[in-house]
Amino acid sequence: MRIVAGPASRGVAVEVGGMLGAELVHPQFKVFPDGEHYFRLPDVDPSDVFVIVQGTHPPQDKNLVQLLLISSGLRDLGARKIIAVVPYLAYARQDRAFLRGEVVSFTAVLNLMKSAGIEELVTINVHAPWALQNAPMKAANLDAIPEIMNQIAQLDKRIDYVFSPGKKGEVMSRTAASILNAEYRSVRSSRDPVTGEVRIELEETDLKGRNVVVIDDMISTGSTMIQIVREVRNRGAARVIAACVHGLFISRADAQIFAAGAEKIVTTDTIPTPYSVVRVSKLISEYLRIRNE
Ligand code: R5P
Repeated sequence: MRIVAGPASRGVAVEVGGMLGAELVHPQFKVFPDGEHYFRLPDVDPSDVFVIVQGTHPPQDKNLVQLLLISSGLRDLGARKIIAVVPYLAYARQDRAFLRGEVVSFTAVLNLMKSAGIEELVTINVHAPWALQNAPMKAANLDAIPEIMNQIAQLDKRIDYVFSPGKKGEVMSRTAASILNAEYRSVRSSRDPVTGEVRIELEETDLKGRNVVVIDDMISTGSTMIQIVREVRNRGAARVIAACVHGLFISRADAQIFAAGAEKIVTTDTIPTPYSVVRVSKLISEYLRIRNE
């Protein structure tokens, strides 16, 4: 097995390669003056299984095209098998047509990957895990919530409550609370499909003087997290940690989360950010080591 370090996720690729004792492939790469990408994969033995590590976080389109180009190149060289490890999988939020005529971007992106030769996809806390079941290739969705909570448990001795929004929230908060030895509460959240406005509703809980973790799979514009942090603080919480797997932090959402009353932000390195203290390389390596062919 060889690990191919995509330009968007070199750090994760190098760590995964080190943990598996697998040889690393660094594709030759340049950008033409008009912005188009060039890759070359010299010295590749096609009898190998290749694992391309390349996230599709912003700039999504650039990172996605790079992944497709690398995979096409490996396929054309006759690679035995191509696995893509995509720590953050873009376009997963449009997993169905919410309004008539909407393009289902998630399906379109998975089909592009398949046609570029990707036979197996490994991602982490994808936005629409249910939609992966219909992926045109073998697909695995790894869960980074335990790693995040283990990190928080090391930083903070006493967490009383874990809150988490949306339909994935109950599972996330239950997993998190069991690791932190805390209680969990779900948060109802809904988003207007046209305006994108988010509404949240917290379960009634006395939070005076309590320490709280709010966990979400992703922080994008921060609207969901900002509202929950503000509400938890309004109810008297002493300290609030805002945690997520994928920290996109669009339009300085991090600053707004702090302004709403969070003491700390904790996230993973699926997307490199100043708060990416949790590494996902161990999770990925363990999966690759034990996965069934
Ligand atoms: C929703 O299903 C997700 O779990 C997140 O709550 C959402 O994507 C966060 O987006 P934003 O930061 O823009 O509120």
